[in-house]
Amino acid sequence: MSGAGPEGGRPGGGGSPLTERLLAQLALPVVGAPMFTVSGPALVVAQCTSGIVGAFPALNARPREQLDDWLAEVREALEAHRARHPGARVAPFAVNLNVHASNGRLDHDLDLCLKHRVPLVITSLRAPAGIVEPVHRHGGLVFHDATSVRHAEKALEAGVDGLVLVCAGAGGHGGTLSPFALLPEVRRLHAGPIALAGAIATGRAVLAARILSTGSEHVILEVKDPGRPSPRGS
Ligand SMILES: Cc1cc2nc3c(=O)[nH]c(=O)nc-3n(C[C@H](O)[C@H](O)[C@H](O)COP(=O)(O)O)c2cc1C
Repeated sequence: MSGAGPEGGRPGGGGSPLTERLLAQLALPVVGAPMFTVSGPALVVAQCTSGIVGAFPALNARPREQLDDWLAEVREALEAHRARHPGARVAPFAVNLNVHASNGRLDHDLDLCLKHRVPLVITSLRAPAGIVEPVHRHGGLVFHDATSVRHAEKALEAGVDGLVLVCAGAGGHGGTLSPFALLPEVRRLHAGPIALAGAIATGRAVLAARILSTGSEHVILEVKDPGRPSPRGS
């Protein structure tokens, strides 16, 4: 999550109040990448209890009725962890919703996210009109995957709280732009949370992204589970 831009362009400067609130809940400024056919409740719980945002795509729960059980499982496991470790920093979890018109279970999956009060919904493939308002009603946040300035603009018009800039090198998506180009352009439009994605899988990459953002530590990065070999063999 970058501190660059209208609110925090100076090196070492702070981010927006929302950025700061999110960072305070994390041990590392990292969002675990939601990965189709890969991420599930066990990975999400492991990520959140390690202090990074855990995320899975709703479409990984099959049949779709399984999503209800998965969300209950994650919530219960995180509550049990909090009870066992009072004061531990447990990161919020996220569900990725594919908003493309071809996704026939979007309404079903959104309803379950609302029922379980999912703290962070990450939308992808189309601007999330109709999703932001109900998620906000239960106190949740919406971040949107964007691969260009135009996609970012459309998501911001839909009222999202944050953006995930899926840049060159990102697995699973078609991001082609360099983060060196995209991040500063989007920061002009949005003072709140911005996550970077694309070939960020090591501590060195995290450090590089931090320097790219502002020279400060205010950056959140979307990374694959560093403990797992890449499913793409990269
Ligand atoms: C196997 C795989 C599946 C993915 N599936 C999804 C997905 O369903 N939804 C999504 O928003 N992003 C998906 N992504 C993209 C990741 O969330 C993330 O943005 C990307 O992996 C970050 O770049 P990196 O792979 O270079 O670390 C996927 C990535 C991989 C590698």
